[in-house]
Amino acid sequence: MGSVRAMVSTRLLCLLSAKVAGSSKTLARAGCSVCFKRHVSSSPSRLQSCMSAWVIDQYGTNGVLRYTEDITIPTVSSPSEVMIKVHAASLNPLDISMRGGYGAKLLKLRRDPMSVMDSDSEFPLILGRDVSGVVVDCGSEVTHFAPGDEVWAAVPPWKQGCLAEFVTLTEYEVSHKPELLSHTEAASIPYVASTALSALVNAGGLCRDSSSDKRVLITGGSGGVGTFSIQLLKAWGAHVTVTCSQNAEGLVRGLGADEVVDYTTGDVAEQLEMMEKFDLILDNVGGDTEQWAIGLLKPWSGAKYITLVTPLLLSTDSMGLLDGTIHAGFTLHTKAIQNIISSGVFYRWGFYAPDGPALDEVKKLVDAGKILPVVEAQFPFTQVPQAFQKLEQGHARGKTVVRVAEKDDTQAEELAQNICTDTAESELGVQGTAKQN
Ligand SMILES: NC(=O)c1ccc[n+]([C@@H]2O[C@H](COP(=O)([O-])OP(=O)(O)OC[C@H]3O[C@@H](n4cnc5c(N)ncnc54)[C@H](OP(=O)(O)O)[C@@H]3O)[C@@H](O)[C@H]2O)c1
Repeated sequence: MGSVRAMVSTRLLCLLSAKVAGSSKTLARAGCSVCFKRHVSSSPSRLQSCMSAWVIDQYGTNGVLRYTEDITIPTVSSPSEVMIKVHAASLNPLDISMRGGYGAKLLKLRRDPMSVMDSDSEFPLILGRDVSGVVVDCGSEVTHFAPGDEVWAAVPPWKQGCLAEFVTLTEYEVSHKPELLSHTEAASIPYVASTALSALVNAGGLCRDSSSDKRVLITGGSGGVGTFSIQLLKAWGAHVTVTCSQNAEGLVRGLGADEVVDYTTGDVAEQLEMMEKFDLILDNVGGDTEQWAIGLLKPWSGAKYITLVTPLLLSTDSMGLLDGTIHAGFTLHTKAIQNIISSGVFYRWGFYAPDGPALDEVKKLVDAGKILPVVEAQFPFTQVPQAFQKLEQGHARGKTVVRVAEKDDTQAEELAQNICTDTAESELGVQGTAKQN
């Protein structure tokens, strides 16, 4: 097991160093640069009322991303709030979608319920959902955090995001960052972890003590949610089968996947039908997957199909808040009833949910070495548009991270350089260990 972990770490680090090199090439090709005169400090000085951030002023393609140093600092305005200096942030498919206006109606309502009555704009809007950073200020009722604490969090999509120098969240949404991880590594985990936990625990009814006899299928296992979910479920003792592209097999097996099905060669449903049936399916792919996947579940035994690709926000965007919510609710209930009546299978939608205490549990697993960060690419804060470009190309293998604070940038660059050297040296040693087992 130790050698497998070593192998995984080295693979991930190889991936990281390769991508660091690769991304700078892409950026040079993209020819994009931003004139920077940043004034990052470890805490906001009394004189500093504005911060730097990447914002959008309208929905659209990558061209709408704008760097500014004139965003008002989000100071603590309620007793339960924690203000965080952002060291690193990571991107999710949701950032691409939100940049284009996805979920605008419902998220605007969640941001400000009074916005239904007026035409107040949500712009400038800051994207970015994962933060790793340091607490700089706390409200009077905050009990778990103090200035100087290193923390991580998944920023709810209805709040201003963390592609900025500072972000302010409620205490409940924040958690202490794993000690073993750099900010760059830590930022790769919170949003996918919060989503996976919400889907597997709240919708799927799984937990640490009830998973050891469960067979779980994860579709789209090579992306952000998939690479985290494989590790979580293996830490809980479940048997995990994953669908992914052939070139991601090494990665998902290294993270612990028991069975891997390459969806790019042959009929994926046919291959999965030859296996023992599953207790739970976590669908990260959507589309027509549910049409063939639900039949892979054990009938009449409480098995659950949970998809993260839901039409809720698309419906509210296209039909309006009321009609869209009713339409999505009707779709969900119809499918749930059909599946429970026909095969005794529970059909559910999974959603991200902010949950600092759940991240505390993830921290323990990370500190115990049971969950590793999977950072595929990292970009400096000057190159946020390039980071979006990378994500938009698809085929993610883990996460894309943005280094926001200069100090962390330097450390990460040093780390990457060390990795380049270490990787070459350790590759031989690790292969040797793997062969012996
Ligand atoms: N409901 C919510 O609250 C919520 C929260 C988080 C995420 N999500 C959604 O959940 C999905 C997964 O999120 P993510 O962050 O993991 O996305 P991601 O990082 O982009 O990963 C998607 C992965 O799926 C693979 N893939 C694509 N088509 C596939 C197929 N047909 N079969 C198997 N694998 C396939 C991709 O690699 P290849 O293309 O190279 O195979 C990629 O590795 C996204 O649609 C996201 O929007 C929803």
